[in-house]
Amino acid sequence: MIQLTSVENERALLREELIEGLRQPQKKLPSKYFYDEIGSTLFEEICHLREYYPTRTEIGILRDNIGEIAAHIGPDCLLIEYGSGASVKIRLLLDHLERIAAYVPIDISGEHLLAATEELGREYSQLRIFPVPADYTQDFDLPEIDVRHERNVIFFPGSTIGNFTPADARVFLSHIAEVAGKDGGLLIGVDLKKDVTVLHAAYNDSKGVTADFNLNMLVRLNREFDADFDLDAFRHSAVWNAHHGRIEMHLVSLREQSVRVDGERLHFRRGESILTEYSYKYGLEQFAAVAAPYFRVEKVWTDDRRWFSVQYLSCVSRAR
Ligand code: AVI
Repeated sequence: MIQLTSVENERALLREELIEGLRQPQKKLPSKYFYDEIGSTLFEEICHLREYYPTRTEIGILRDNIGEIAAHIGPDCLLIEYGSGASVKIRLLLDHLERIAAYVPIDISGEHLLAATEELGREYSQLRIFPVPADYTQDFDLPEIDVRHERNVIFFPGSTIGNFTPADARVFLSHIAEVAGKDGGLLIGVDLKKDVTVLHAAYNDSKGVTADFNLNMLVRLNREFDADFDLDAFRHSAVWNAHHGRIEMHLVSLREQSVRVDGERLHFRRGESILTEYSYKYGLEQFAAVAAPYFRVEKVWTDDRRWFSVQYLSCVSRAR
């Protein structure tokens, strides 16, 4: 029997997921596949675009309300961040929370995590940091933390929760609730419903960075899975789906064509698309209902235009 190493195993699983997605009636690629080195750099660039409001709006909300946020979280928490923080957002918390017992950043990219942890360690020399290299959407173990703390508080900014369907978001929130435990809390960024023109501009920016970010999926398939996508034969499209309340990102085939991916032939009709991402936009009550089996919304902070929200949720104890 051939034994696969874990790297080969991971590649084989990913290949299966990619090919299976591309064989669906609505072709799909998983959005986690955006984030190779180029994709992560492009996403950073997106966050600084004039049209992409979520990042700066969320930072503004955190800045304007940091005293109240710190009061809700309380002293001596174990702060666990989903998605690693080299960013201004985590620094706001580190600067204002009272006596953080320890900080646990979780990130899929070990390298990124190490670099971010070293940088924070230099800046916050008193802070105990326990980095966890893991995909937080999968099962992972928290390290043994030998520091007394009052509660676990998960920080999940950026409205990444919007990239899950509401049903998947609920399952994911149930996992977060397990990590948070009794008396635990969740500080989460949730993007809100708004004028479609604002949304359209945010996901179809004038510099074409989001288009490059989307098309980079195909560049990556060409490089990593010996695919032969012609990048000039696909275009980026981001559309608002009012029925589902979500932005959908697609790569649209400009002509009838067939493409090879790791030895498999795939056929595209002209105008047929690959769905690469959902970005759900919530109403406040709607999000509270998604979280309700596991969390109670304690407080919501928004910007003046109510475009984005930062919410503090506490774990609901579930008697069995
Ligand atoms: C990571 N996530 C919250 C982003 C979003 O807005 O859904 C990803 C993104 N896709 C296109 N632009 C940004």
